This record gives sequence, structure tokens and C-alpha cells, in this order.
Amino acid sequence: MAVLVTGGAGYIGSHTAVALHEAGRKVVLLDNFDNSSPAAVDAIRALTTSDMTFVEGDLRDRSVLDHIFETHDIDEVVHFAAHKAVGESVTIPLDYYGNNLGSTIGLAGAMVEHGVRKLVFSSSCTVYGQPGTIPVTEDAPTGAESPYGWTKFMSEQILRDVAAAADLDVVLLRYFNPVGAHESGTLGEDPNGIPNNLVPYVMQVAVGRLEEVGVFGGDYNTPDGSGVRDYIHVVDLAEGHVAALDALDGSLQGACTAVNLGTGVGSSVLEVISAASDAVGAPIAYEIVDRRPGDIEQIYADPAYAKEVLGWESTRDLATMMRDHWNWQRQNPNGFGG
Ligand code: NAD
Ligand code: UD1
Repeated sequence: MAVLVTGGAGYIGSHTAVALHEAGRKVVLLDNFDNSSPAAVDAIRALTTSDMTFVEGDLRDRSVLDHIFETHDIDEVVHFAAHKAVGESVTIPLDYYGNNLGSTIGLAGAMVEHGVRKLVFSSSCTVYGQPGTIPVTEDAPTGAESPYGWTKFMSEQILRDVAAAADLDVVLLRYFNPVGAHESGTLGEDPNGIPNNLVPYVMQVAVGRLEEVGVFGGDYNTPDGSGVRDYIHVVDLAEGHVAALDALDGSLQGACTAVNLGTGVGSSVLEVISAASDAVGAPIAYEIVDRRPGDIEQIYADPAYAKEVLGWESTRDLATMMRDHWNWQRQNPNGFGG
């Protein structure tokens, strides 16, 4: 039997493909390269010394899914494929609703029809907004503040409804802030254009592609005034998916369950820049600028439920995240483009 990984050439999907292979699972990857490149598939195959099956296609194309389910013995799916840029989603909301909801609905429909029962879905801590209580637990109120966020909120609801109606077993994984790269430095995040997210931006300053980091706000009610997030190593996150699939055979069978994947540690923007400087071995230029509209002040996960139901917890600290992200960026200053 095999696991289908949608969005398998992307940042988190590629690392998860490697983790699943290492855990002894047979993997089939699907991606349309909307936000990734064939070089990522080559890197996965090189790392796993395997000819892992890759299908190029759009998840919204039902014939692609039918073909995969008919030709491979798929019994579980990890669904990463989505557009993910919050700012862009405000400008082109229909693209986001169309792709992210269309993919989730199409996939769930094909799974039900082909009798595939186990699904792990990429959700986000964005569904919590600014939580009233931190660390945030899975029973905190959810909502959204951008079309992207709504696609996660709505996908969660759609999957809850399908799970109840059609016996689908689902884990909704709410990721905190994934950073870092595979420790080999051959697989990592390769954002298009100027990065929106902090760590890719910091690393592009370190490698000389950008001049200095703008720290969005120095007057938040946090220990050093900059925003606080729960950064999690992408390989820890990948291993969380393996644990989630295992749990679908055990404690989480027969349900649709939301689980936080975070470390439980909050780090400020200035702490991240300092840890990155240590990893790089040189200072990283930054300046405190205005707050970014729409940003929350601070969030980090309560990871206790993940430990309880998945038997999983993160093991890599901020220094390791920065070491590995830098190792990837240093070896691939222009990402997969060379
Ligand atoms: P990514 O863009 O690197 O990977 C997503 C992949 O899906 C890309 O390779 C893209 O080409 C593919 N894709 C998109 N639409 C597709 C379609 N219709 N058919 C086939 N392939 C399609 O993003 P990522 O960072 O790896 O994120 C993976 C998932 O995790 C996404 O659902 C994202 O919303 C979610 N998530 C990401 C973060 C983050 O900070 N990276 C945080 C929380 C949640
Ligand atoms: C982003 C997404 C969110 C997603 C989360 C997890 C937005 C608005 N939100 O949030 O939906 O769930 O990633 O991946 O994009 N910062 C700077 N300078 C920069 C970039 C960022 O100071 O150049 C700060 C931000 O203000 C924030 C922190 O760094 O305090 C992290 O920012 P970012 O990496 O963009 O992630 P989130 O804002 O948490």
C-alpha cells in the first residue's frame, strides 16, 4: 500500500516525502509545479536513493486523481497542495478559494469514491488569529482574517462534515511557523520573488541577495517588543505527519481531529535574527520599521495534545533550525534555480 502526497514537490511536502520513505512507507507524489520545481523531486529521489513515483498534474483534475487511485494501491493521503501567500490571497481571492477549496473537495470526493479512508490535512495556526490565551490549545475559537485563512477554516469544516457523513478518518494538522531545511542542505524552501516570511528573508540578507531585514514593529507587548511566533523545524513537522498517519491506524481512527504541530516555545523576531547571525557567523543587518498590517502580536502552541495522541514532539531547537536553513541557503543561494 502507498501514501499519496499532494503538493509533494513543495517545501513541507518534499521533507515529508523523505520522512515517510525513511519510515518505510511507499510514497506517490502529486504536484503541478505551480509553486515548486522538478529539481525538488530530483532532490527527494537522490536523498531517498529511490525512484519514488511522481505524477505531474492538477489536483482539481478528477481524471488525474482517478488514474492515481486506479493504478496505485493508495490507502492514505497527506494533502499539502494549496496556494499559501496571505497577502496575495487578499488580491486574488477567487484563485485561493478556487484552488484550495477545489482541491480539498475534489480530493475528498475521489477518496470516498475509491474507498480511501485516511487523510492528513495541512491546516495552519492562522485559524486561531490572536488567541486570548497562550499557549494556544486546539479548543480555542477559530476564524480567519484573510481569504487564505478562510480556505483553511473552510477546508477544516468541509473535512469534518465529510468525515461524519462518509467515514473518512482525518487529522487536521495546525502548523505553527515551519523553518529550516533537510540537514543535507539539498532540500529546502525556495520562495518565489522577495520572501514574505521572516526566516527566508533573513537568510537572503545573510547570503547577500537582500540588504537588511525590516523588523515589523518594536513596540509590541512582548519581552523585547518584536513579534513572537512558534518556529518549528520542517523535519520535525515532517515527522509529525508520519506520526499522524500512524495515529489514524490507532487512537485517532474513526474521527476528525485537529492537532497543533508546534514546539511550545515562542521566539521573537530579534531572537530569530540573533540565532541566524550565530549560525551564519556574521551579523545580519536589520532595522525596526512599522508594524505589518494584519500581524498578530504573539502566538505559540500548546503541544501537549500532539504528544498525547500522536506520541510526537519536536526535538530540534532554534539554533538547529537556523543552522540547517543556512546550510541550505549557503549551498543554494538561488534555491533550486542554482
Ligand atoms: P508550497 O507552496 O511549497 O507547497 C505547496 C505545493 O502544492 C506546491 O509545490 C504547489 O506547486 C502545489 N500545488 C498547489 N496547488 C496545486 C494543485 N491544484 N494541484 C497540484 N499541486 C498543487 O507550500 P508549503 O509551505 O509546503 O505548504 C504546504 C501546505 O502547508 C499548504 O497547504 C500550506 O497552506 C500549509 N501551511 C504552510 C505553512 C508555511 O508557513 N509554509 C504554514 C501553515 C500551513
Ligand atoms: C505567516 C502567515 C500565516 C501562517 C504563518 C505560518 C501572514 C500575514 N501570515 O504568519 O497565515 O499561518 O505564516 O507559516 O503572512 N517579520 C518581520 N520582517 C519580515 C517578515 C516577518 O519582522 O520581513 C515578522 C512578522 O511581523 C512576525 C514574524 O516575523 O512577527 C513572522 O512572520 P512570518 O514569517 O511572515 O509569519 P507569520 O506572520 O507568523
